[in-house]
Amino acid sequence: MNQFSLKAKLFFGPQAVEHLSSLACTNVLVVTDGFLQESGMVSKMTQYLPSGAHVSVYSNVRPDPSQELVDAGVEMIFGVKPDVVIAFGGGSCIDATKAILYFAGQKGLAHPYFLAIPTTAGTGSEVTNFAVITRGDTKVALIDDALAPDGALLDASFTRSVPPKITADTGMDVLTHALEAYVSNQATTFTDALAVKALRVVFEDLPVVFHDGDAMRARGRMAEASCVAGIAFTNAGLGINHSLAHALGGRFHVAHGRLNAILLPYVMRFHMADSKYREPYDRCARELGMADAEDLLRHVIDLRAELGVEDRLADLGSIDAGAFEEHVGDMAEAALGDRCTPTNPRPVSRQDLVNLYRDAYNG
Ligand SMILES: NC(=O)c1ccc[n+]([C@@H]2O[C@H](COP(=O)([O-])OP(=O)(O)OC[C@H]3O[C@@H](n4cnc5c(N)ncnc54)[C@H](O)[C@@H]3O)[C@@H](O)[C@H]2O)c1
Ligand SMILES: [Zn+2]
Repeated sequence: MNQFSLKAKLFFGPQAVEHLSSLACTNVLVVTDGFLQESGMVSKMTQYLPSGAHVSVYSNVRPDPSQELVDAGVEMIFGVKPDVVIAFGGGSCIDATKAILYFAGQKGLAHPYFLAIPTTAGTGSEVTNFAVITRGDTKVALIDDALAPDGALLDASFTRSVPPKITADTGMDVLTHALEAYVSNQATTFTDALAVKALRVVFEDLPVVFHDGDAMRARGRMAEASCVAGIAFTNAGLGINHSLAHALGGRFHVAHGRLNAILLPYVMRFHMADSKYREPYDRCARELGMADAEDLLRHVIDLRAELGVEDRLADLGSIDAGAFEEHVGDMAEAALGDRCTPTNPRPVSRQDLVNLYRDAYNG
């Protein structure tokens, strides 16, 4: 039996931020990061809350949030006892908030209304039942319907300040979500429709926002595409591109979207080498008005080049060859056990993943 669900109510479009003024709240906790707090973006958002609401801010989130910062957030939330929690930031802030609420809930906290406001057009975390937390050198994907926010507010003006490099990384994450959802062994007509729409927007609008961060119509479409891709993958699942990126990111701390972008052509070629697993790429290409899977792969490689993304992991300069070889077996093991691997279209062995890592490292 197949299922499709969307828990979060979506608020989007020009006046979406006014939803904040209608929230019934007296005690609000905002979970965010230091940059968003210090740049004034948090107060730009909280000014829309009802005037009587008391606002507390937890701004210790860092990229690839650790279990320790989640635990500190759990401690804080019991002190604040909010009736509304707002995750404000990129995937790291939204995931940290999900995990804080999840673990606090296990300790008896009554569930407050949970609203996610993304400030990157990337993870789709505002609508997914995923949260990725780093424990030691390992990124752990939590998957539970209880993690999904109650509401998601999309206002592209919050993404205007994202610099080109992070625009590229997060935008390529959207592409990877949509493509992995499309070829997933749990894909359905419903998730395919969403994935194709997200892919169309990414191919058209990601180069625009990369070259001109003030292109607000394109920023708006990317914010919606990110959310649309999130709805696709929270229902269809992801695949080994994400499994490989999680294990690498836990060890070497490179931006999640950049790792996905570098890995993607290698993962596509691995699947396309067998006609059975090439088929969904051919189908996806045709839905996008491209000739076939090879043509889709060319479009991905061209987009990556236009965004200045490296061809190989070695070109990042931050992953030492010796350290990579030392850890490649452990990373493959972690990727094999990742929660994204069971929905990959092609069954994989540990050796397949070692080979993919080495291909992506050396080119
Ligand atoms: N839960 C999910 O469904 C899901 C899906 C994919 C990835 N993830 C996880 O999400 C995390 C990545 O999230 P991300 O790619 O959004 O990046 P991020 O949240 O880690 O943020 C990256 C950087 O961008 C900055 N930033 C955010 N908004 C900005 C803005 N408006 N202007 C300027 N700078 C801004 C942040 O301060 C930070 O320095 C990873 O941990 C990844 O594993 C989660
Ligand atoms: Zn991702």
